[in-house]
Amino acid sequence: MAPSRYNLDDLDIELLKQRISEKWNTYPADILPAWVAEMDFPLAAPIRRVLENALERDDLGYPINPRETGLCEVFAERMGERFGWSVDPQMADIVTDVVQGLYVSIDRFSEPGDGVIVQTPIYPPFLNAVKETGRRLVEDRLVQGSDGWEIDFDALRSSIDERTKILALCNPHNPTGRVFRRDELEGLAQIAIEHDLVVVADEVHGDLTFDGRPHIPIATLSPEIAERTITLTSATKAFNIPGTRCALAHFGSERLQSGYRSIPRHIRGGIGLLGIYATIAAWRESSDWLDEVRSYLQGNRDVVADFVKQRLPGVEHHACEATYLAWLDCRGTGLEGSPARHILETQRLALNEGRTFGEGFDGFTRVNFATSRSLLGEILERIEKAFQAR
Ligand SMILES: Cc1ncc(COP(=O)(O)O)c(C=O)c1O
Repeated sequence: MAPSRYNLDDLDIELLKQRISEKWNTYPADILPAWVAEMDFPLAAPIRRVLENALERDDLGYPINPRETGLCEVFAERMGERFGWSVDPQMADIVTDVVQGLYVSIDRFSEPGDGVIVQTPIYPPFLNAVKETGRRLVEDRLVQGSDGWEIDFDALRSSIDERTKILALCNPHNPTGRVFRRDELEGLAQIAIEHDLVVVADEVHGDLTFDGRPHIPIATLSPEIAERTITLTSATKAFNIPGTRCALAHFGSERLQSGYRSIPRHIRGGIGLLGIYATIAAWRESSDWLDEVRSYLQGNRDVVADFVKQRLPGVEHHACEATYLAWLDCRGTGLEGSPARHILETQRLALNEGRTFGEGFDGFTRVNFATSRSLLGEILERIEKAFQAR
């Protein structure tokens, strides 16, 4: 392995505590946070350079028209290189963030009362987007087999009715960490075509797959699925710059692009200068950082899986194929109520509550393992102690 450029193993908790981001700033200082999806690692050097240069020049004015920054071309280049996806930059728009893209897509391509398919358990903004836009949740529950979380295609087919308009896909999937296989994506694409659904594909974790597993953008499967798909992605998750607010929406047809743009631009909001240039630096120049971080995360993924197996009796967990989020089924521990709440109260460790990922997931919790191995050890030990102390 190439020598490490970034000291991922040696994070200073006192410096982390000074961060003003959501992860480190929501809870009191004595609580160790392992919840919202931010990483604790240092930034990639090219991203840091871009941001520092802007500050050195006191250069925080407006960006030029975002399209003229070249970001859509960089996005197309990146999709081609990483995923073999040939993208026309003209079919991409720069948006403020992935969740915004999800909300706007639901708003534009369905009516209040229409059904939106969501595969639960799910990253909570998917549920909020359906609810807050007055749409109806068409729940496609993933099922927990012995090998991990799978799609129940029969249940999915039977839950669709005439007013189901959108398939909101999260791939790689947060919180289960699944990277859907080609045959699974083909099954979903088939259903979308049969029922004339618009697919809104959140692929923001696509750069964070493990074990060499390929991420397959659903829009690459066939022209028929591409033309009904809006793909949302950004550099913010894989390169840990969510505070810079910048994402890309790719439209598989002009119908989708013009429908999306029918909300006036200023209502959709603007994109910050730093987000655009940080994204370009991430995608163009930061691959070595990503390789290093991804391999470190894969090691952490294994640490979590081994620890759960050996030290957390009653907890079920399928090692993730992507993301840095571990989804733990704690129902077998005998603990009543929310495990995250119990762990927070007894061990001063903040995890995500399972209930926010869908109905019936109260006995689950999500752990963010994007931190140094020693802090991860502390996190896991606190979880163990919490279950012992119940
Ligand atoms: C699946 C998924 N989509 C979107 C986001 C957030 O993206 P953004 O900050 O661009 O809205 C996250 C963040 O954790 C996520 O896990």
